[in-house]
Amino acid sequence: MPATCVIGLQWGDEAKGKIVDLLTEQHDIVVRYQGGANAGHTVVTGGQKFKLSLVPSGIFHPGVQCVITGGVVLNPASLLDEIQGLTDRGVAIGKNLIVSDRAHVIFPWHFEEDRLLDQCSTGESIGTTMRGIGPCYRDKVGRSWAIRLGDLYRDDFRQRVEQIAKGKTRLMAGMGDAKIQFDGEQVYRQYADYARRLQPHVTDTTAFLLDAAEAGKRILFEGAQGSLLDIDHGTFPFVTSSNSSGVGVSGGSGVPGRFMTKIVGVLKAYTTRVGGGPFPTEQENDIGQHIRQRGNEYGTITKRPRRCGWFDAVAARYSARLGGVDVLSVMLLDVLSQLPELKICVAYEIAGRRVTNFPSHVDDLRRAVPVYETLPGWQQEVYDVRRAEDLPPLARNYLERLSHLVGCPIEVISIGPDREQTIVVRSNSCCRCC
Ligand code: GDP
Ligand code: IMO
Ligand code: MG
Repeated sequence: MPATCVIGLQWGDEAKGKIVDLLTEQHDIVVRYQGGANAGHTVVTGGQKFKLSLVPSGIFHPGVQCVITGGVVLNPASLLDEIQGLTDRGVAIGKNLIVSDRAHVIFPWHFEEDRLLDQCSTGESIGTTMRGIGPCYRDKVGRSWAIRLGDLYRDDFRQRVEQIAKGKTRLMAGMGDAKIQFDGEQVYRQYADYARRLQPHVTDTTAFLLDAAEAGKRILFEGAQGSLLDIDHGTFPFVTSSNSSGVGVSGGSGVPGRFMTKIVGVLKAYTTRVGGGPFPTEQENDIGQHIRQRGNEYGTITKRPRRCGWFDAVAARYSARLGGVDVLSVMLLDVLSQLPELKICVAYEIAGRRVTNFPSHVDDLRRAVPVYETLPGWQQEVYDVRRAEDLPPLARNYLERLSHLVGCPIEVISIGPDREQTIVVRSNSCCRCC
């Protein structure tokens, strides 16, 4: 039975939220399975803009079950705020949102650790979202100081949290900030209150999803971040702390790969990145500025200006292969209108050698000089186009080249943030992008 995965193929913010919202009507269940409140997914519906961090982007469709699984690191305060904000705007949230009792919980010390340790061993800043994501995943893997959502309902929760608070206070002093003291009793009371308010949503989502998959329910998996931020396969150490590429779906959700029947790779028609780390096609010039302005490229949650650059086909092809991507959704094509010419990176030159495999070491990526192919730009605005054949021929030409270089057909082209500003490409067209 069909399960669809939506995976970002760049460094995040590829407009996954829009695609998930669009695909939700063909599914029964929408699942967030990794990351946490570092994600900011935008959905524009009924003339209103919503920014989601933890709640799956399927929440706007009545009758659809939304699930946050054990692969997510959960800040209970963020989730409660998000639920309240959505409820205030008329979005019904009740039993249609369930949260895994296996999800690891973010505590106040995780924010402090994020602040004190936002750098890799070379001293460079990773530029995290400061949401405590990495430190919480570190405790999960380390096990000793980890607390899962289900633990909040057990008798020994108070004792455990008090013990961890003491240990974390010592850790702060060791990290050079002796002023920070965690009051275990206060943290316990605060989190016991969160636990009480979240209780109606908390359950074993693994059992729920396995039953649903075996019963043939249509499941949509919503990736957060992007493949190049994957902890194992991304531009380490300038990555997030979860498997944000296609490889993370089963691990984060507990649903076996054999249920995944379609993988949708989401790409911007250019590239952006927030935070530190190499970005070979970055344009710190008028082109980058043009893209940032037209694409409103500022962080959805953190508001940081996004770094902008040309489409990198070496990176995108790598991500698409890694995720086993079947079809592409190419987003924000409208942003590229009015540029005289466009460049696509087709290879890197590293130490005099032409390379088409994405480098495994960040130092090689840093040294990579992009080899560009230049294509003519189109001058017309495309916001109102609704059929691929009505796009300017030079825009079709650009998409055709992009699709060929990434190695996947294009199924969706997005030419604006609204649901309506979407072109679904006919599957019988000659090149699957026009
Ligand atoms: P996500 O994290 O992958 O869900 O992406 P974000 O929501 O962080 O960033 C994507 C941004 O692009 C949001 O502000 C969307 O409303 C916006 N957007 C989505 N599709 C399009 C499009 O085709 N054109 C334009 N101009 N904006 C778009
Ligand atoms: P969505 O789901 C873009 C980046 C941060 C930083 C790195 C590590 O909206 O696409 P973290 O706080 O996760 O430890 O930060 O990852 N990052 C994102 N960049 N979109 C995101 O999510 C991101 N989530 C994390 O900027 O470089
Ligand atoms: Mg985002």
